[in-house]
Amino acid sequence: MNPVYHFQTVKHVVHGAHSLAQLPEKLALLDTPVRRVAFITQPVMEETGVAARVVAALEAKDIEVLIVRDVQPEPTIENVETVFRGQIEPFKPDAVLSIGGGSVLDAAKLFAVRLTNDQPLREWLGIDLIKAPGVPLILVPTTAGTGSEVTPNAIVTLPDEELKVGIVSRHLLPQLVILDATLTLDLPRPITAATGMDAFIHALESYISTKANPISDMFAMESMRLIGANLVEAYENGHSLKAREAMMLGSMYGGLALTAAGTAAVHALAYPLGGMFNITHGVANSMLLPHVMAFNLDAIVGRLATVAHALNIAQHDDSEQAAADKFLARLREWTAALAIPQDLREFGVSETHLDALSVAAAKVKRLLGNNPKALSLDDIKSIYARLLP
Ligand SMILES: NC(=O)c1ccc[n+]([C@@H]2O[C@H](COP(=O)([O-])OP(=O)(O)OC[C@H]3O[C@@H](n4cnc5c(N)ncnc54)[C@H](O)[C@@H]3O)[C@@H](O)[C@H]2O)c1
Ligand SMILES: [Fe+2]
Repeated sequence: MNPVYHFQTVKHVVHGAHSLAQLPEKLALLDTPVRRVAFITQPVMEETGVAARVVAALEAKDIEVLIVRDVQPEPTIENVETVFRGQIEPFKPDAVLSIGGGSVLDAAKLFAVRLTNDQPLREWLGIDLIKAPGVPLILVPTTAGTGSEVTPNAIVTLPDEELKVGIVSRHLLPQLVILDATLTLDLPRPITAATGMDAFIHALESYISTKANPISDMFAMESMRLIGANLVEAYENGHSLKAREAMMLGSMYGGLALTAAGTAAVHALAYPLGGMFNITHGVANSMLLPHVMAFNLDAIVGRLATVAHALNIAQHDDSEQAAADKFLARLREWTAALAIPQDLREFGVSETHLDALSVAAAKVKRLLGNNPKALSLDDIKSIYARLLP
């Protein structure tokens, strides 16, 4: 465990069912007054009427709002830059608001700093390369989720390199987060499954990360407890506010855990599946999870046993090995219960792609370095091969 660690997080978190209704008055919490808001969202928030309600409430406070709906799912770096230059920059907002999944939250984070830093996004790929803080940023997640609302990360796709890459900076942290689980009640089943698994993986990978520390452990453990007890319920009974609330909190805790400790090989191997085959982030991660954890098992038996006990999967007299095995079995059960695909062929992947995928994954050193066990190129390839049964 690292003896010295550093943790920084967002300024304000407002949490509770229907808390989005308090957005106009909560703007007073921001460092500077708000008159013009760029509002980055996804079509579904307009279809459900959420976006219109927010716009009306802000306009009633004499705030001018520009709705931006052109950020693509899992956006490319060009898409983010084009929307910035075409829509955000000319509007000159003094704050950025995003309500949606991780794709638009990440783009909004970049817009907020792009307004105060005249550098193309490509210069920021990596860690701590953004010079100045952005305009005030307000994030409202509607998946549960990426935890992006509390992480200093924004992920963009680089199509020419067939990879997804992270931009990491403390300047990407928002000033205000609103967690309103009622926004997730109609999240479709496949998205509930994939984004819920992604949230669990943030917590689990942080818990077994080489950078794990007391702060990340606390958030990771609570995240896994909440998600472990509610993911299947949220999937099967989407309108259960209790399950959706637990998933929303669990997702935020997962984001806090990964901020403190970092994700690892599951995320590293998922990036090329997104970059080369457009497999969505949550689906790629959930497909890989059982196989990466089976590979990691001998290095983390004790930690997985602790998780198994916390999730009430193991008996108190189980050996560490037996408890860890039960946890891995539970991951496979979730994969089946949540209808997570288990064959990469469905996405156009074949044996001929294994080398290119493995070489690309091996480049994600930022995350592979957090994995409790080193992965050779052959190890990576054999994990992908398990998804070509
Ligand atoms: N910044 C971070 O720390 C971090 C962490 C993990 C993932 N990510 C990134 O986040 C992106 C993925 O985000 P995501 O998994 O939230 O998915 P997403 O934002 O791509 O959304 C997936 C789909 O769900 C729909 N949707 C969103 N909310 C909905 C709702 N309440 N009801 C119905 N439909 C809804 C969207 O319109 C979209 O079609 C990826 O680019 C990934 O790399 C970022
Ligand atoms: Fe993730």
